[in-house]
Amino acid sequence: MTTAQIISGKQVSDEIRQNLKTEVESLAEQGCVPGLAVVLVGEDPASQVYVRNKAKACEDLGFYSEVHRLEADTSQEDLLELVHKLNEQSNINGILVQLPLPKQIEEKAIINAIAPSKDVDGFHPVNVGNLVIGDDSLLPCTPAGVIELIKHTGIEISGKHAVVIGRSNIVGKPVSMLLQRENATVTMCHSRTANMKELTRQADILVVAVGRANFVDASYIKPGAVVIDVGINRLETGKLAGDVDFESASSVSGPITPVPGGVGPMTITMLMKNTLLAAKRAHGLS
Ligand code: GUN
Repeated sequence: MTTAQIISGKQVSDEIRQNLKTEVESLAEQGCVPGLAVVLVGEDPASQVYVRNKAKACEDLGFYSEVHRLEADTSQEDLLELVHKLNEQSNINGILVQLPLPKQIEEKAIINAIAPSKDVDGFHPVNVGNLVIGDDSLLPCTPAGVIELIKHTGIEISGKHAVVIGRSNIVGKPVSMLLQRENATVTMCHSRTANMKELTRQADILVVAVGRANFVDASYIKPGAVVIDVGINRLETGKLAGDVDFESASSVSGPITPVPGGVGPMTITMLMKNTLLAAKRAHGLS
């Protein structure tokens, strides 16, 4: 039976959005309206849902937004041209090109073309580099959301042993950098890690981003540890499952995120936060 505290990403996200909304209202009085451009190439159904949700979030929070929907056979050249145009547009502070892109387009070329000051995904090498050396940057949204959720539990990150399973560029690596920045001692685990459970059982904070349904169960977890599940996997039954077997894990863990309703709701909220920050910097207000 679950006795663990469930960390509600929805609730934390709603609180942050409320604060963002208030800040946007006062910025608008100073003539600064944050603007986000979202670019979707093709008709991937999951991407369409994400893009709609991003536009909706902009509307709810009082941001200006533009959605650019391009044909699936758009050339890399045409997409680059749009990115360059958005880089120059003063009413746009954040540019998000929805991934994955069709195969005729090289993702890296597109990410590198986005002005680092407008890279609200935090994927540009300049922002990644600034994250690593601890300079101001736009932080990648899902990793930043993970840190917010851990902080929300009230547990001090400094001095704790954090174990991250997964070393992707969009989650595992940046999460580990952010945890180090919060003064955690960080261990990275991945598909070639020997004796993974020996390591994860030492974790005060366990972040799981492997993309395999129910990969982590109670046997990986130190009693009372904070568990953050970044996975979203679609099972054959159509149900969503995280990378953590919630029933099993929550029988020993401390505060733990559910899927859905954990990390998921935080990602767009952190995107809005980045866009607001980019707008403030563009107006010399931060
Ligand atoms: N596709 C799935 N997640 C993301 C994300 O965070 N950013 C972008 N640009 N595309 C995605």
